[in-house]
Amino acid sequence: MANDATMEKLVSLCKRRGFVFQSSEIYGGLSSAWDYGPLGVELKKNIQNVWWKEMTQTRDNIVGLDAAILMHPRVWEASGHVENFSDPLVDCKGCKNRFREDQLPEENRVSRRCPDCGGELTEARQFNLMFRTHMGPVADEGSQVYLRPETAQGIFVNFKNVLQSSRVKIPFGIAQTGKAFRNEIVTKNFIFRTCEFEQMEMQFFINPSEDTRWFNYWREQRWNYYLNKLGIRPDRLRWHQHGPDELAHYAKDAYDIEFLFPFGWSELEGIHNRTDFDLRRHGEYSGKPITYLDEETKEHYIPYVIETSSGLTRTVLMVLADAYEEQNLGKAEDGTSDLRTVLHLHPRLAPVTVGIFPLVKKDGLPEIAREIEASLREDWTTYYDQGGAIGRRYRRQDEIGTPYGITVDYETKENRTVTLRDRDTMEQKRVKIEDLAETLRRNIAEFHRQ
Ligand code: GAP
Repeated sequence: MANDATMEKLVSLCKRRGFVFQSSEIYGGLSSAWDYGPLGVELKKNIQNVWWKEMTQTRDNIVGLDAAILMHPRVWEASGHVENFSDPLVDCKGCKNRFREDQLPEENRVSRRCPDCGGELTEARQFNLMFRTHMGPVADEGSQVYLRPETAQGIFVNFKNVLQSSRVKIPFGIAQTGKAFRNEIVTKNFIFRTCEFEQMEMQFFINPSEDTRWFNYWREQRWNYYLNKLGIRPDRLRWHQHGPDELAHYAKDAYDIEFLFPFGWSELEGIHNRTDFDLRRHGEYSGKPITYLDEETKEHYIPYVIETSSGLTRTVLMVLADAYEEQNLGKAEDGTSDLRTVLHLHPRLAPVTVGIFPLVKKDGLPEIAREIEASLREDWTTYYDQGGAIGRRYRRQDEIGTPYGITVDYETKENRTVTLRDRDTMEQKRVKIEDLAETLRRNIAEFHRQ
């Protein structure tokens, strides 16, 4: 299957069908912030639910957390973000465009000339990516707080609370999803890099002597998740190991899972060996050392952390880009090309699982269709549509990735069967109404990416 998605087409589909809108659009828009519309919010929630189930509910040794976005400012001193979380910023003296020096093409870095207009670039300045705000009525140094730039620190500072309240033993993990904020110098490519975004992170606490084993374990787990749980095509995923100059200030080793976005290979998730950096520093900065006592061996140590850190909003973009296809189905009845846009979303992720269509708006067919909808609603997201030609109704659902369509026709009145249409193959089978739920359940469980 060709990779038909371009950023233009995705942005346009997202707006037209209500996945993603520009923030504050009626005021001209706020760059690098986006709103999730009726379909986008379902897709995002479905991704989050699949991740949560995969990382917590199906495992004995990982528990959840939902920490506050605003934290004590000392957290960010201890974590190293105040000192190190910055990008080198350069401006063009000619066109005034702004760049991250480390992302400039090699030739521009050497010549110190702007890639857009050839003008002279300024010296690099370090620019801290944390958003600052103030807590309380007086905006002075003492009231300064930050919007968290990663969810991870909420987990580290709660390590002892979780340990004491949850009967967990090393090795164990804490998972959380939530908003994070970075004052990115260059935001582009739609929801790929934004100032406000969502992360899904898990910190796995281990005995330091076992870091290589657990690092490899989590790399494998996370790779398989993208293939098997999200149904991403394997040829669009690859590994990238961080070189010494790329490693974050806390990392001993790091691998990114990259996806082939329409604009090229880019990071989707990082798997990091953070060593004992964070727990050690929070122990030092808070004056309350954070250690772990192994009851069996009586060993006392600061745990190491293997972190899996993925972007939820970035995953939304990946899933859409991976699913998008334009198909030419030959000639339509009027002689023009019959084109269909389809999202091959995994049924677990699709905003609507099943579309329900009475063939006509009369003769009792809508009533039967509504009855079927009511019987499936508890388990799946349904969408009832009785407007327009049936072929057009199918295409509307194909474009938003609805994997199944149920059509109620005159035969339904005779023998209580309906047609069940598959989005990817477009095949239709007759199924008894009483067997619909079971058939859907089986199809979803056995779904394979076309
Ligand atoms: N706790 C480790 C951490 O935050 P990171 O590599 O800086 O590591 C992890 O971020 C993930 O968060 C990235 O792989 C990406 O998916 C997502 N992410 C980071 N910055 C982002 C941004 N500005 N916009 C959207 N997603 C972002």
